[in-house]
Amino acid sequence: MTSPRRPAVRRRTAVLRREAVLATVPVAVAALLGAAGPAAAGTTGASGAGDPYFPLSGNGGYHVRHYGLALGYDTSSRHLDGKADLTARATQRLTRFDLDLKGLKVTGVTVDRATARFTRSGQELVVTPRHALREGQEFHVTVTYRGTPAPVTDPDGSADGWIPTDDGAFVAGEPQGAMTWFPANNHPTDKASYDFTLTVPEGRTAVANGVLLGRRTTHGRTTFRWRQSEPMAAYLATATVGKFDIERYTTRDGVQVYNAVDPREARAAAPVLKKLPSVLEWESGLFGPYPFRAAGSVVDHAPDVGYALETQSRPLYDSAPDLSTLVHENAHQWFGDSVSLTAWKDIWLNEGFATYAEWLYSEQHGGDSAQKTFDALYARPASNGLWAFPPGDPGSGANIFDTPVYARGAMTLHELRRAVGDKDFFRVLRAWAAEHRAGHGTTDRFVRLAERVSGKDLDGLFHTWLYTKGKPGRA
Ligand code: ARG
Ligand code: ZN
Repeated sequence: MTSPRRPAVRRRTAVLRREAVLATVPVAVAALLGAAGPAAAGTTGASGAGDPYFPLSGNGGYHVRHYGLALGYDTSSRHLDGKADLTARATQRLTRFDLDLKGLKVTGVTVDRATARFTRSGQELVVTPRHALREGQEFHVTVTYRGTPAPVTDPDGSADGWIPTDDGAFVAGEPQGAMTWFPANNHPTDKASYDFTLTVPEGRTAVANGVLLGRRTTHGRTTFRWRQSEPMAAYLATATVGKFDIERYTTRDGVQVYNAVDPREARAAAPVLKKLPSVLEWESGLFGPYPFRAAGSVVDHAPDVGYALETQSRPLYDSAPDLSTLVHENAHQWFGDSVSLTAWKDIWLNEGFATYAEWLYSEQHGGDSAQKTFDALYARPASNGLWAFPPGDPGSGANIFDTPVYARGAMTLHELRRAVGDKDFFRVLRAWAAEHRAGHGTTDRFVRLAERVSGKDLDGLFHTWLYTKGKPGRA
């Protein structure tokens, strides 16, 4: 229960690290050219959303309201044919704007049906519409593209994005990988609804987020139509393809569950997946109503991936999950998915919360108390990696999935609970999920909420646990 998923550690190799260093070069170039950051002058949309950990993730000058993604994937040649249809709104006058897309060949771009000029530069797809867009104007962009998608290597050394498997693809996108398979405003500040039309060889299943609208087979190919109607950050989108056993049902709360399980993982997954309705009910009891109309799981057989992801409405597992991982990824539906990050620096709002949900689950189901879990971690010596950096300030994108974020993040919540008492603590969690439902949060706002609900000054506590280097002393 106490060990967070640490894909980073397992996947770190010298080769991957070297790639990560090279990957920072375009960032430096963009900064020199003055193109990075949200405040780029004039009528050119910025090439980034202003996140210092991932300067080129996201873009400035517009928000996307909806993505319509039509993808065809040939599992044997690994060729992808894509058409993305974006509905967006300009937040400034725009003569030019960027989308994030890495790899693949773009064959055409239109803006409001008129052919638009485009260039590629690293992960930026730079679009020049025939007519400038007015501030506040709603516009449609279509991008047609094709090629062999490949994952990106994150600063922590793990693969992220479209990851081919022996029977399809494991498609995860945190923090950067969405741009490996569709053109996106690839930062969690920009959430949108999604429609997916996914065509794969007959016999394979393509699973995306939200509700399955229909499936249809013609000429040896099956098309799956999925709709994610509640707003979603691009990194939480999936279009995972494989040979899957399917299970569907509706919970007592009316949530539509769709589980897709690789038959090789079925036997190990079954006893855990059986608990999904009771886990969701338990989490709803603690955190407030489940935020989406759909739920479920994709259990793939992807032994090289090394992590699970809280893909919205339907977490994605690289192998049969254990119960605490199921609890963790579904807790993210409230903390991380419905309430999104504003900056990657605040990642403890996702991982600390989901980890603390594991501790609470254990405590309330006959396992260790959260206090016991806290104590076992606190006993680690000051030299232990747990204390390597404070969770509120991981320092760089390379650290966002490291132990301090998960474990010390959860310890921070436990300290809050001890300071304000159970009643106010659970009030804070529910208010957080309710007030920022389908929106965004920041650490500052969380601290202020906790102070408002409890009537206590909590600056010292959060300063110590979130921002102070080294192992905190005993209060
Ligand atoms: N958010 C995932 C979790 O629940 C971890 C994702 C790790 N991704 C990565 N690129 N290292 O723990
Ligand atoms: Zn997590």
